[in-house]
Amino acid sequence: MAPKVFILNGPNLNALGKREPGIYGGKTLKDIEADCQTLAETRGYEIDFRQTNHEGVLVDWLHEAGDAAVGIALNPGAYGHTSIALQDAIRAIGVPVVELHLSNIHAREAFRHVSMVAPVAAGMICGFGANSYQLALRALFDICDN
Ligand code: DQA
Repeated sequence: MAPKVFILNGPNLNALGKREPGIYGGKTLKDIEADCQTLAETRGYEIDFRQTNHEGVLVDWLHEAGDAAVGIALNPGAYGHTSIALQDAIRAIGVPVVELHLSNIHAREAFRHVSMVAPVAAGMICGFGANSYQLALRALFDICDN
């Protein structure tokens, strides 16, 4: 059976495609999931792609991934800037996390320059639009291959 990675998406990412397309692009989350699926197949991984608007659900999914996945790509949305609970959840699991954002959070408002996830992530990709998911997944697969 192919090793599994979780791709977890936080609040408001269900609105991709119609949400501030000048910042986040025109692809929907379904489009992005399909692109991730294609890459995963070529790399020999299975993906479990999910989105929630609720912080505690993300915490639950991180715990679940700790048992069920070899790695996690996480777009925490705005919770990435605020959530100590997400940082603690990642600290509690032994699975590498690659943080990702579509937009370049460092080129935006000051409150987006902070990430609670980054200190406990293997690394962070941001600023490449939907391609951030591909780049983050490639980095995650490279980590998990070794
Ligand atoms: C985001 C960046 C966050 O600052 C924002 O709150 C989001 C999306 C991104 O993918 O660029 O919801 O995570």
